[in-house]
Amino acid sequence: MNEPVRVALMGLGQRGLQHLKSLWALQEQGVVQLTVLADAFAANLDPGKIRNYVDGFRPEGILHTTSFDELLGREQDALYVCIPPNFHSGEVVRAAQAGLHLFVEKPMSLYLDEALEMEAAITEAGILCTAGFQQRFDGRHEAVRRHLREGRRPLMASYTYHGALEGHNVKHHRTELHGGPGNRVWTANRAWSGMTVVEGGIHLLDLWRYWLGDVEWVQAHYQHRSEDDIYDEADNPYTYSALFGFVGGTIGTMTLSRLRTVFADHMDHQVLWTEGRAEICWEGVTAYEYRGAYPPAQPPTEDAVSNTLFEGRGGDDTFAISRVFVQAIADGRRELIRSPFGDAMNSLAAVIGANVSDELGGERVEVDRLLNDDSYAAFRRKPE
Ligand SMILES: NC(=O)c1ccc[n+]([C@@H]2O[C@H](COP(=O)([O-])OP(=O)(O)OC[C@H]3O[C@@H](n4cnc5c(N)ncnc54)[C@H](O)[C@@H]3O)[C@@H](O)[C@H]2O)c1
Repeated sequence: MNEPVRVALMGLGQRGLQHLKSLWALQEQGVVQLTVLADAFAANLDPGKIRNYVDGFRPEGILHTTSFDELLGREQDALYVCIPPNFHSGEVVRAAQAGLHLFVEKPMSLYLDEALEMEAAITEAGILCTAGFQQRFDGRHEAVRRHLREGRRPLMASYTYHGALEGHNVKHHRTELHGGPGNRVWTANRAWSGMTVVEGGIHLLDLWRYWLGDVEWVQAHYQHRSEDDIYDEADNPYTYSALFGFVGGTIGTMTLSRLRTVFADHMDHQVLWTEGRAEICWEGVTAYEYRGAYPPAQPPTEDAVSNTLFEGRGGDDTFAISRVFVQAIADGRRELIRSPFGDAMNSLAAVIGANVSDELGGERVEVDRLLNDDSYAAFRRKPE
């Protein structure tokens, strides 16, 4: 049996605590050994607080620290980075240079120059690194990928999500001490979240890439929030409309809204291929596809063309991505990682490209040019 993989975790907020729950379970199974828990605020390291989220958590043998230098000083194999995406200051690069395998939460940064620096350090170090795209491990989404790979030619993916303006999120970064929202809900704030296509839409966009391949270009229009309609610095736009062009011609249309007083979510997610369509719901995936000889003698009923691809929820994808990451490290099997950092750069650039397109009045933004061309240098730069 392999030795347990020694894991440190940085950022004990909403996402870090979810990962800690998985890592704690993996430690109970003997495949992980937690080494360090780090947070910018000592109160977030309190074992009593952590136990509210991770049943049975015990701090013995785990260094709790607010210092990244102290974290790096420990003997260990891997680091989870779960801090707000505008708040990196070289930790990913330093950890890669120290030879740690990395789990970097999405979006890896709000600034492409910073993400490119991370990518270069990760490649140079030859470590394993996954971005936090757990939706690739959801059974419903795996079923869609398998279905498309049975020789179907995708045409379009469409996703509509009308959600509330992040009003009920629980966030743990003390943003009020760093010039952010007083209520800590930084996901509703432009400067902290990079806006909703980047903050939340990146999950969908990345999933589409899992099904459809890389994004070549993006065009977007947002309806921005009026100055007199901003509470608690929740200044993200009202609505977002983004069109993504995939290599090979498939189109993705993403429509999102974050209206402050609509406390009822609505989701519609479809993928279409030549002569078929799948509907992805919370409860499963149904494909609508006529499989008989064409033309049929009579138009078939809806029941006759409904095919269940997956029934029920897709399982605990947050646990699944960690289990596979740890297994990849233990067995030295790079191919198990479904979102290597370099691959995830196309997802990040595509959603940041949507923001750039909106800023440029809906101009079509080629993703490769956004990453490499001098004409987009200002859009890649991290603000001083
Ligand atoms: N994959 C997903 O489904 C998912 C879900 C939620 C959040 N996220 C991502 O996870 C990241 C963290 O978001 P969150 O919701 O946990 O936010 P959060 O505000 O709840 O937590 C962030 C934590 O990081 C800590 N922190 C900040 N800077 C630090 C530093 N330099 N060193 C150590 N700790 C530091 C904060 O004190 C806080 O405890 C974001 O990138 C977010 O987009 C991903």
